[in-house]
Amino acid sequence: MDFKVADLSLADFGRKEIRLAEHEMPGLMAIRKEYAAAQPLRGAKIMGSLHMTIQTAVLIETLVALGAEVRWVSCNIFSTQDHAAAAVVVGPDGTVDDPRGVPVFAWKGETLEEYWWCTEQALTWPGGDAPNMILDDGGDATLLVHKGAEYEKAGAVPAATADDPEEWHVIIDLLNRTVGDDKRWTTIAEAIKGVTEETTTGVHRLYEMHKNGQLLFPAINVNDSVTKSKFDNKYGCRHSVIDGLNRATDVLIGGKVAVVCGYGDVGKGCADALRGQGARVIVTEIDPICALQAAMDGFQVTTLEEVVGIADIFVTSTGNFNIITADHMARMKHQAIVSNIGHFDNEIDMAGLAKLPGIEKRNIKPQVDEWVFADGHSILVLAEGRLMNLGCATGHPSFVMSNSFTNQVIAQIELFTKTDEYPIGVYTLPKHLDEKVARLHLDALGVKLTELTKEQAEYIGVHIEGPYKSDHYRY
Ligand code: NAI
Repeated sequence: MDFKVADLSLADFGRKEIRLAEHEMPGLMAIRKEYAAAQPLRGAKIMGSLHMTIQTAVLIETLVALGAEVRWVSCNIFSTQDHAAAAVVVGPDGTVDDPRGVPVFAWKGETLEEYWWCTEQALTWPGGDAPNMILDDGGDATLLVHKGAEYEKAGAVPAATADDPEEWHVIIDLLNRTVGDDKRWTTIAEAIKGVTEETTTGVHRLYEMHKNGQLLFPAINVNDSVTKSKFDNKYGCRHSVIDGLNRATDVLIGGKVAVVCGYGDVGKGCADALRGQGARVIVTEIDPICALQAAMDGFQVTTLEEVVGIADIFVTSTGNFNIITADHMARMKHQAIVSNIGHFDNEIDMAGLAKLPGIEKRNIKPQVDEWVFADGHSILVLAEGRLMNLGCATGHPSFVMSNSFTNQVIAQIELFTKTDEYPIGVYTLPKHLDEKVARLHLDALGVKLTELTKEQAEYIGVHIEGPYKSDHYRY
């Protein structure tokens, strides 16, 4: 088996944590049981690009239990948990000397070149075969396949320019090496039956591509299942934003002024958590609806310019770019903490920060850097501006990820087994499946659901067994 992880000897520790996580992931375990005999993913060759954590290990082993062949990478250079990666490679039945699990190409602290090399490896099936499904988080695997196929069609790879970000240069180098007469990327693009996308940012990319007529295969938007974005993005971040801050800095949050940029699902979870710790939380927003929500939830809402000099902690959660600029950072208080929990690192202008005259970067420990300005004052930047909950801590806990990943598995089964029902486009899962995912998590929390009477069901115009809401209901 080909694979590349940090240290296979961590597999035993990883396996122990996977065992504990399985108990906390009732949705995934129920799906394993439900489909054990039917094996709906037999024949599926799934390339996964999603943070290689303990929770993801349970997802991977669920896909395998349903019959799939899988190859995996992390979708961020800092988010791999090395013991999880090792355990997945060794597998439940293998040993360090005889690994029998799933090929994983991921370790914590990859360079950008290594990151894209890993993505290429996981998309390269042994024996010249191609994957036929992608499970993506942020859309990097989907992007590589699309760009490769596009440039193969054009017959050339365009040169990157000085204005392009460093990462684009790395991607262009990779494509220069791999785009060719063998039509490698075109073959993969044609073999892919569909992609299931995990996060807001990746979903944005898919809708853009579809709008521009560039999407090459159908996609399921897993993010906008209610049991994903209204749980993982919100309650997951409510847990892991604090974990990231604590593990990185251990600074007392109570009494501090914290700024959360963006009051979408992620921002709502972050603002709630910071307030729970006793911080005075200030929100920035561009959307009047979200701004009004934040105000009515009791947060001050203002612009970053107004408060940049008085806040102690900054968290960006917009999925947009250039939210915190180099100029903002230069104006911050001494030892202000600057972090991003959105998918990509461009929410904070790290490149601009590095170019400020007289700036000096002092590494405190992995994923924590002190940036000292020419005047001697400094700020702390977490995970080099990449998503801090996975860079500095271990991301969301298992129970919430069980909701997200049960949606992922159901979406993979949908696209793989009902390919003809999904022409090229971006889809969300039907509401009855969303409700099913929620239902699978109730028992573990001791929730007792009220059952509708026949008369009540008729009165509100639904079936006793659901779905209970119309598609336009917003929760
Ligand atoms: P969302 O679309 O619900 O929220 C983003 C909010 O930011 C919106 O309300 C938008 O109006 C606001 N915004 C946009 N530009 C802004 C600006 N210049 N200033 C202030 N506010 C601005 O998206 P969601 O689901 O909250 O996701 C946000 C990001 O977090 C995405 O990149 C997503 O992929 C990522 N994500 C990260 C997770 C993690 O574990 N780190 C988990 C889930 C999502």
